[in-house]
Amino acid sequence: MSTTLVGKRILLIIGGGIAAYKGLELIRRLRERGADVRAILTKAGEAFVTPLSVSALTGDKVYTDLFSLTDEAEMGHIEMSRDADLLVVAPATADLLAKMAQGLANDLASTTLLATDKRVLVAPAMNVRMWLHPATQRNIAQLRDEDGVLFVGPNDGEMACGEYGPGRLAEPLEIVAAIEKALAGPTFIPLPGSVRADTRLLPAKIGKDLPLAGKHVLVTAGPTHEPIDPVRYIANRSSGKQGYAIAAAALAAGARVTLVSGPVSLLPPPGVNLVPVETAREMLEAVRTAMPADIGIFAAAVADWRVADAGAQKIKKGAEGTPSFSLVENPDILATIAQDKARRPSLVVGFAAETEHVVEHAKAKLARKGCDLIVANDVSPESGVMGGDRNRVHLVSASGVETWPDMDKDAVARALVARFGEMANATA
Ligand code: CTP
Repeated sequence: MSTTLVGKRILLIIGGGIAAYKGLELIRRLRERGADVRAILTKAGEAFVTPLSVSALTGDKVYTDLFSLTDEAEMGHIEMSRDADLLVVAPATADLLAKMAQGLANDLASTTLLATDKRVLVAPAMNVRMWLHPATQRNIAQLRDEDGVLFVGPNDGEMACGEYGPGRLAEPLEIVAAIEKALAGPTFIPLPGSVRADTRLLPAKIGKDLPLAGKHVLVTAGPTHEPIDPVRYIANRSSGKQGYAIAAAALAAGARVTLVSGPVSLLPPPGVNLVPVETAREMLEAVRTAMPADIGIFAAAVADWRVADAGAQKIKKGAEGTPSFSLVENPDILATIAQDKARRPSLVVGFAAETEHVVEHAKAKLARKGCDLIVANDVSPESGVMGGDRNRVHLVSASGVETWPDMDKDAVARALVARFGEMANATA
């Protein structure tokens, strides 16, 4: 069991909403990793989970009331807000975010958030329209860009209310990953103008301190189509979802993103530079043109072969009987770029789609292609990965193999991008 959070003190604020139950799971995951968790349950939160279950999991009393004299005698709310290494709000409701953005302090949760001198990580959860409402988006922009508040999620998906879209609480393990990352950076926020203030740590700067800021990330995605004649082609079942999700996550992490994509039925994430291609050879050409890049992520399911002499006219049935084709191998885009000494990105990531012996094949590919990391996954029909929304990946590198739990492809993308950022910044 991981001990990444041993000795860390986390103050968890559980807001109202159907996702509050995931706050309980989050406490378990944090404690498993060695963290001390103290919890504040808002009035709305109490409608969804009981103080008793929260307290059973934290092993501590639960704080609910600003004006509880007992609590104030034991530990004042100011002290509680400073005693933690990190404040985490999960789920963060639209109301709680609005209070935070306005600096309101009319209950224990909002008062604590205003009084703290530590970083705050929020995991929003709300109805999709509430999330997309301009008022909520204004509050998010204020908190993230000006006040240095960190965000994890929300995820896209079906909501308890039956609608679909962004607004689902991030999964507990994604929140744990965001907490670990937040704790790896500075946690104390000095007062602007204070003698102790280090201007590099002021909130407005922290908000802009994105992990991939200033980096150019190149992503390949989707299948390639290799023509047989003008109307027919060889293809595969790749949907492009994982590559597109990585492009979106890299963009959100502050990178400039070029997405070289084979034919897919997805809209490109707004803000990425999309270069649409059809064949493997076009993909290689587009990748070369897009260089230099700091990070190359090769998520495309490139067709290994193409028809040697694709017909210029539609092949007709008839006198010549059933046609047969000879195939020639396509260029290996990943290997070409990884082994190009002059133009190699400092971090090169390949994918390995396998139907059996997933990790063994991935290890062989790592060596054969010359990349820094292979993200391997099982694409056997039973896995449902090809074309589906979920993925379970193994990270294979020179330092070993790491297997991640099954997550939706957006969550996998965000976690991968966080890892790529760490690796790229470590080698920079
Ligand atoms: N790849 C590539 N160009 C190719 C073939 C693969 O860039 N012509 C990249 C993929 O984008 C992926 C990695 O290489 O990042 C592995 O792809 P995969 O299809 O799993 O492996 P192959 O090299 O095609 O080997 P095999 O088909 O034998 O498994």
